[in-house]
Amino acid sequence: NPPAATRVSIIGTGYLGATHAVCMSELGFSVVGVDIDPGKVANLAAGRVPFFEPGLEELLRKNLDTGRLTFTTSFTDAAAADVHFLCVGTPQRPDSPAADLSHLVSAVDRLLAAGPKPGSLLVGKSTVPAGTAAALARRLATEAPLVGLAWNPEFLREGFAVEDTMRPDRLVLGLQADDGGRAEGMLRAIYASAIEAGTPLVLTDFATAELVKVAANAFLATKISFINAMAEICEATGGDVKTLAAALAHDARIGGRFLGAGVGFGGGCLPKDIRAFQARAAELGAGYAVGFLAEVDAINLRRRTRMAELTTELLGGSVAGRRVAVLGAAFKPNSDDIRDSPALDVANLLHRAGAVVTVTDPAAVPNARQRHPELSYADNAVQAATDADIVLHLTEWSDFREIDPVALASYVRTPTVIDGRNALDVARWRAAGWSYYALGRPRV
Ligand code: UGA
Repeated sequence: NPPAATRVSIIGTGYLGATHAVCMSELGFSVVGVDIDPGKVANLAAGRVPFFEPGLEELLRKNLDTGRLTFTTSFTDAAAADVHFLCVGTPQRPDSPAADLSHLVSAVDRLLAAGPKPGSLLVGKSTVPAGTAAALARRLATEAPLVGLAWNPEFLREGFAVEDTMRPDRLVLGLQADDGGRAEGMLRAIYASAIEAGTPLVLTDFATAELVKVAANAFLATKISFINAMAEICEATGGDVKTLAAALAHDARIGGRFLGAGVGFGGGCLPKDIRAFQARAAELGAGYAVGFLAEVDAINLRRRTRMAELTTELLGGSVAGRRVAVLGAAFKPNSDDIRDSPALDVANLLHRAGAVVTVTDPAAVPNARQRHPELSYADNAVQAATDADIVLHLTEWSDFREIDPVALASYVRTPTVIDGRNALDVARWRAAGWSYYALGRPRV
């Protein structure tokens, strides 16, 4: 079958869904993206990506022009598809560390009410607690026995969403043993180009597929907290965590990626995934196995308070009335996502302690302003740093790395910088007259 003959629906057009819809269409499939949020649908249908993701908007527009890609709020339009990808969010519940599956449940309610085609396949991509797919399979067995199910977790990184979707590190397919290989066949056809390009394919059961995703994020979070714990030890001994990490990285078994010490991890995935993982393991009576993730979370959050403490110390013991410039609002560079952002958490801690905090970020200021109207915002680093008593570098955008420290020094009241991401060129900043401090590195 030529791809265009295969109709694909993408349920949930947030970060994951919008990217998946565009990429599936780019591969030649007929794609309909469905979402209950009319605003999101209207934006995407008009060629606007409602979040910051390099390269995605161009590809969206190109594919809208082909007519292969449409967006709708009607599940009836989606019901005619051969393959449905479930891409809704599974955020942390407001009242507990567990994942909130209500969006997933209501998406399935709506799809089943719309009457999916017999022989079609439902493919879960959302990050879910182990056991979710099995529960969904039981539901389908009674309510839509002719609809198949597979679990195919997504590993894309914000900022690299298109690249990660088109050329994933691996494809994980959680399959039912008793469907005669139907789901596997359909997914092999969907992912034919990636498979032909040599993408490793992992065929497994539902529980393992669900776990690969949370285990991967738990591992990444652990790696970051490990190096941040070493940063704490470096602070106690006078060691240098950056040199330590570089030396560790020479061991190919350890590797250098995700050993960047600083204010730690944030975002809509790592923090909530390690919490939901612990909650689910506890429900399964196996909480003891991932007890260490509580420590991973605690180390991570301690970096934020440490950053605020160091700022306070460098300002002589109190931040009240002092001007603090914060470079960064997004949880990482090349993103406008401020969910669980370490930068904004630090900014808030200082604001609550009485500092006059001005935040700047190349992309995330509109989101930050909406969520934290109590902080002040500036269009660029110079504006943010004008008359500042201290500058905090909290999200390592290239814009900030490229700042000319000589020029910036002429705007501030005191040329003191804390590099919360260990990403600035220390020698350059010091040569420009700045007192440079970083987490986990000796003072000079
Ligand atoms: C993460 C995973 O990397 C993806 O594989 C996964 O698909 C995604 O979550 C998800 O579950 O959807 P993402 O949240 O986009 O992706 O961000 P990362 O690039 O993993 O960064 C996470 C956080 O760790 C950021 O706040 C970043 O600043 C921080 N980080 C990263 C460090 O503090 N140090 C490092 O060395 C690396």
